[in-house]
Amino acid sequence: MTKILFKGASLDCGADQNLLDCLLDSGYALPHGCRAGACQSCLLQLKSGNIDKSAQTGLSIPDRNRGLLLACQCYPTETLEVSPIAASALRTNATLISREQLSESVYVLKLSSRITWKAGQYINLWLPGKEQTRSYSIANLASEDLYAELHVRRHPGGYLSEALTQEINLGDSLQIQGPLGEFGHRSELLDDKFLMLAEGTGLAPLLAIAREIEGGLPGSQVDFLCTSRSHNYYGQPVLAQARERFSHWQYESYRSGNDEAPYEEITQGIRQRFASLRGHNIYVCGSEEFVSAMKRCCFLAGAPSSQIICETFVDFTAPGQSRAQPM
Ligand code: FES
Repeated sequence: MTKILFKGASLDCGADQNLLDCLLDSGYALPHGCRAGACQSCLLQLKSGNIDKSAQTGLSIPDRNRGLLLACQCYPTETLEVSPIAASALRTNATLISREQLSESVYVLKLSSRITWKAGQYINLWLPGKEQTRSYSIANLASEDLYAELHVRRHPGGYLSEALTQEINLGDSLQIQGPLGEFGHRSELLDDKFLMLAEGTGLAPLLAIAREIEGGLPGSQVDFLCTSRSHNYYGQPVLAQARERFSHWQYESYRSGNDEAPYEEITQGIRQRFASLRGHNIYVCGSEEFVSAMKRCCFLAGAPSSQIICETFVDFTAPGQSRAQPM
């Protein structure tokens, strides 16, 4: 057992217990989300004691230097004193201004807020008074729109997606933490051929990145290859609409197969479409399995690893899994 000092109380933290679980088990309503070190919703302020550097993985240097830590990634080995961080220091208000259903399960939400972001980044969304969050990538550019566009898949019984797609009304308030993440266009990649590989709503950050590329390298060759388990991929109308503005963009969607070979169709599609991927800049966004399969496929097709940029969606429903980051 290790002692944790928190809000004037002395708590016992088990040998294999992380700080987040210790505080939740002790009855404290600590904000949290992924439990995997990705969403930064479980930040705490270290007041005294030493922590392993893994408890600060992914934090900015200023945040590390001022002693912030991720409670879900902190396994105390000595007495620690920690304090909560006021929600007002991390979050800003947003208003739902638009919601459109694009497929059986995917909705496009538009939020007005004061945040600005870089293409490819994501935000954490909070319902008022709730202590759990979910992360969503932003599909548009802060420089072009006065709102943030999110692609939200409704998971029946899901912690937040049900509320976002069914319950809250236009004009209702939410809270945003972020923007977060480093996924985005690397301007040092000078080739003008881009391949965007998306699984499901992994399309969202790729759309933002492609629009940013258009700003710097107009007329670039941009191919979107997308896969999903649905017959009617939600991204089809989104990409069709984007092509009204960027008529040179190409796209194709594929069905994801069974668990034995889930990405067979899109893998074949890549092989048929491109004799070689040498000289392409490739952006991949989806599940860990998808990202892994696409990296392998693209590498075997001639793309060096340095030109395959990935974001891995974290499964918020799988507590305790290790981080792989997005996407
Ligand atoms: S980073 Fe700790 S809950 Fe997401």
